[in-house]
Amino acid sequence: MLTMKKMIAEKLSEGIAALGAPSTLGVNELIAMLEYPPDEGMGDLALPCFKLSRTLRRAPVQIAAALCDCLTELAPVEKAEAVNGYLNITLSGQYLLEHVLADIAAKGERYGATDEGKGKTVVLDYSSPNVAKPFHIGHLGTTVIGHSLKKLHEFAGYQCIGINYLGDWGTQFGKLIVAYKKWGNKEMIEQGGIDKLVELYVKINNAISGNEEKGIPADPALGDESRAEFHKLELGDEENLALWRWFIDISLEEYQKTYKQLGIEFDSYKGESFYTDKMPAQVQKLRDMGLLKIDDGASIVDLEPYNMPPCLILKRDGSTLYPTRDIAAAVYRKSEYNFDKAIYVTSAGQSLHFAQWFKVVELMGYDWHDQLVHVPYGTVSINGAKLATRTGNVVLLKDLFAAAIEEVSRIMEEKNPDLENKAEVAEAVGVGAIVFYYLSNSRIKDINFVMEDALNFDGNTGPYAQYTYARTCAVLRKAGDITCDNLTYTTPEEATLVKALARFPETVEKAIADYEPSVITRYILDVAAAFNRFYHNCPIINADDAAVRATRVEITRAVNRVLGNAFPLICMRTMEKI
Ligand code: ARG
Repeated sequence: MLTMKKMIAEKLSEGIAALGAPSTLGVNELIAMLEYPPDEGMGDLALPCFKLSRTLRRAPVQIAAALCDCLTELAPVEKAEAVNGYLNITLSGQYLLEHVLADIAAKGERYGATDEGKGKTVVLDYSSPNVAKPFHIGHLGTTVIGHSLKKLHEFAGYQCIGINYLGDWGTQFGKLIVAYKKWGNKEMIEQGGIDKLVELYVKINNAISGNEEKGIPADPALGDESRAEFHKLELGDEENLALWRWFIDISLEEYQKTYKQLGIEFDSYKGESFYTDKMPAQVQKLRDMGLLKIDDGASIVDLEPYNMPPCLILKRDGSTLYPTRDIAAAVYRKSEYNFDKAIYVTSAGQSLHFAQWFKVVELMGYDWHDQLVHVPYGTVSINGAKLATRTGNVVLLKDLFAAAIEEVSRIMEEKNPDLENKAEVAEAVGVGAIVFYYLSNSRIKDINFVMEDALNFDGNTGPYAQYTYARTCAVLRKAGDITCDNLTYTTPEEATLVKALARFPETVEKAIADYEPSVITRYILDVAAAFNRFYHNCPIINADDAAVRATRVEITRAVNRVLGNAFPLICMRTMEKI
């Protein structure tokens, strides 16, 4: 579509110059001004002429009428009409077919990709669960938004480094060590894995602060013990270090299962602990620059001039904090990867934290401070208590996936009992359903998860999208090697569908510019709807005319390609049969 927009914009620019504009509008400005009208009856593209009225010193209606003429000869344009100050442009179905399908066939796997990121590096910090604490649905956002952004950037030619900044350091390990020594043993953890660790963690927290409901009195001495064990860990105590490493390995093993279901791999697992010896240099720099203030014994950076609360760097006892580690990590990543952009995906609850330490990095004189990007997202809640788990009131990600997979297996048993690789398909569709549902909303919106909605095969869902992809595969299997030398345009359904395909490259651009995977999700639904309308209204393999049949197979091939390119951008797998 961009190529066509450009051709149209060039003609319009000439037309505007001919109207005697004092300063002629550039082609790029005109491209940006071309809109997609809300309904197809108004054409495929529209130029609102109000914005030109002042420069051209004429009424919008007159401008629209005058510009109509300059487009009549242009190949992609079938019709140009002036309506109420808009110039409405209808594209030629035949032209669209020929040019868009050729473009898709030529670019193949790279159709939709740009090279905006060529030679540039992006570091993405996402997922980053806190070891020993539950990996719950609150982490769904950072995990799938983060990975989608990585895929999108890779698609646009950036070199991407995905970092899982594990929460692998902190007083929670002291607690876990105490709990383990008190109530746990080796076999118990080897058999029970992360669930047992979380159970121990919950138990010790309840014991330290007490739990009225359960009639457990508070035992603050356990808190002191935990701090002491963590301190031993910090000093390099062999026994505690071994336990700490072991807890991390057990947790990672579990996370890997979830990542595998999502098709996620990280390039680095350097967690918070890695930065222990990298913080002092940054703290010293802050001190040398006179940026540190002592406040009630703690060291802070005053951010009052920037209307933010102070950024905490050191506690009263000299121990470091979350922002201190983030600053040290950013400095390290800049020197290690020389990124052009560093993206952090976390819940919106952490927005202030990021705004604060980004500002501190700026005050420290690091000229790359403006390459740091925080991408926040809203909260997730879930319907009913059906999915509540042993670990209390949080819903674990793996349980959510398991529930979806189970439900999909049940539906498939009903709909298609003879399917091969049932387990694999159920996993892809079940996990895909959750991801798709989650990524259907703008990321910043809070969402309430309704499992039935996510799994509805007839709704605007992941299963519906995957089913549509499988349908294109079925058509192509039947079509065999039918190819087409002269595409023949016959029905508006074809034009609508091909226009949707033509919008893929701009859609990818927008998703990247807004850090918004939902742009892709919604696009997939548009393509799926247009394809299904085409499929139901236009015979493909059964078309009487050979040229029409071949054209429609070619269109189906292009849909298959575009969906196949789009799914991985939102962490969803393509299944040839469902
Ligand atoms: N581990 C943190 C949490 O679960 C998220 C870390 C986000 N990344 C960062 N660089 N601060 O809340």
